[in-house]
Amino acid sequence: MKLKSASCQIAYWESGKLRIANYLTRRTFATNPVTLDLIRFFSTPSTIQKALAEFGSYSRESVAASILKLIEAQLLLEHGSAEWERDKQVESSWGPWLPEGGFHFMTKDTPFVGVDWPIEEKMKALPTTRAPPQFKRIAAAAPIRLPAHEVQADTFFETLHARRTHRDFAKTAVSLESVSNLLQTTWGVQGYVQTNVFGKLPYKTSPSGGARHPIEVYLVALRVKGLERGIYHYQARDNLLTKIPGKASARRASAYCADQPYFGEAAALFVMTAVFARTMWKYGRARAYRVVLLETGHLGQTFCLTATRLGLAPFSTAALKDSLIEKDLGIDGISESVVYVTGVGVPANLAENRTAPPPLRAGNRPA
Ligand SMILES: Cc1cc2nc3c(=O)[nH]c(=O)nc-3n(C[C@H](O)[C@H](O)[C@H](O)COP(=O)(O)O)c2cc1C
Repeated sequence: MKLKSASCQIAYWESGKLRIANYLTRRTFATNPVTLDLIRFFSTPSTIQKALAEFGSYSRESVAASILKLIEAQLLLEHGSAEWERDKQVESSWGPWLPEGGFHFMTKDTPFVGVDWPIEEKMKALPTTRAPPQFKRIAAAAPIRLPAHEVQADTFFETLHARRTHRDFAKTAVSLESVSNLLQTTWGVQGYVQTNVFGKLPYKTSPSGGARHPIEVYLVALRVKGLERGIYHYQARDNLLTKIPGKASARRASAYCADQPYFGEAAALFVMTAVFARTMWKYGRARAYRVVLLETGHLGQTFCLTATRLGLAPFSTAALKDSLIEKDLGIDGISESVVYVTGVGVPANLAENRTAPPPLRAGNRPA
């Protein structure tokens, strides 16, 4: 059997102890410099026998024990195994953004505070220190007072101020027209620009670094009038929906959103994934990972505002069961990975879709 050290590794010090993490499997391991040398030895596939010979100045038992521990910690992988293939895929898909991009994998499938936990349990998850101040204040001798302004009564400002995160939805279905409007307005191609170097590039209502548009969207249709319940991929170029295998259910939708039951009661979820290579191809530095995340924020806000303008109830969440979603979408979680989920329903206090945003209330106005 040939072994190879995982490429998805990062070493750091914790309380004076050297630790190695495999950021793909999220296993961490306390180690020492000699073991690091063993890992280096296996950076080209080799056998245990050859390692015992190479580290002949140490006892065979201690070298063998270290190798076994490294296998257990998935820092040494069996050459040709499924784990090794996955590790190799990260290395080839994410190469230019590693090791910094390891953050993406290290933070996947995090455990979340349960919605149904008693408040005392939730409080225990918080630090015991005081929360940091909500606003920054720079003391100045003569701060400039800005002129008071009335919130403009046009639909843009009304919509902006009416947007809220909803967690309570009516059982009513949303119309296919509304879903189509949301998809086209938020993720649809609005047109193309011709560039000298990069050819024809699409533009959308949200900006995208280098017009790379790495974000894809999948519709989880739970209650959409005129559309069979299911999961669909939105093909932005042609404005089409293609059904993908698998079932959509309220329970599954809630599970996607880290078991937040209220989001399973929405009429439709819009799952955003990133095809990192689109951005990485042009921007070879890991900083561009930030660009991808920033872009999902733009799209999320555009979605929420559009839904509000349509009289619908939007929400957004980043508390996600990444691997579960990726499995259901049939994506590998490496070259394409889930990043953000938005959703919509009919507001609980309204049985019908509204076409105009709710009127401004005092509580909606900025202080
Ligand atoms: C990136 C992001 C993640 C969020 N995740 C959740 C979530 O998991 N569950 C939830 O109920 N709300 C979530 N929210 C909504 C916030 O709780 C909400 O925006 C905040 O309380 C302010 O309320 P507002 O949106 O009505 O202004 C999220 C918002 C953002 C921007």
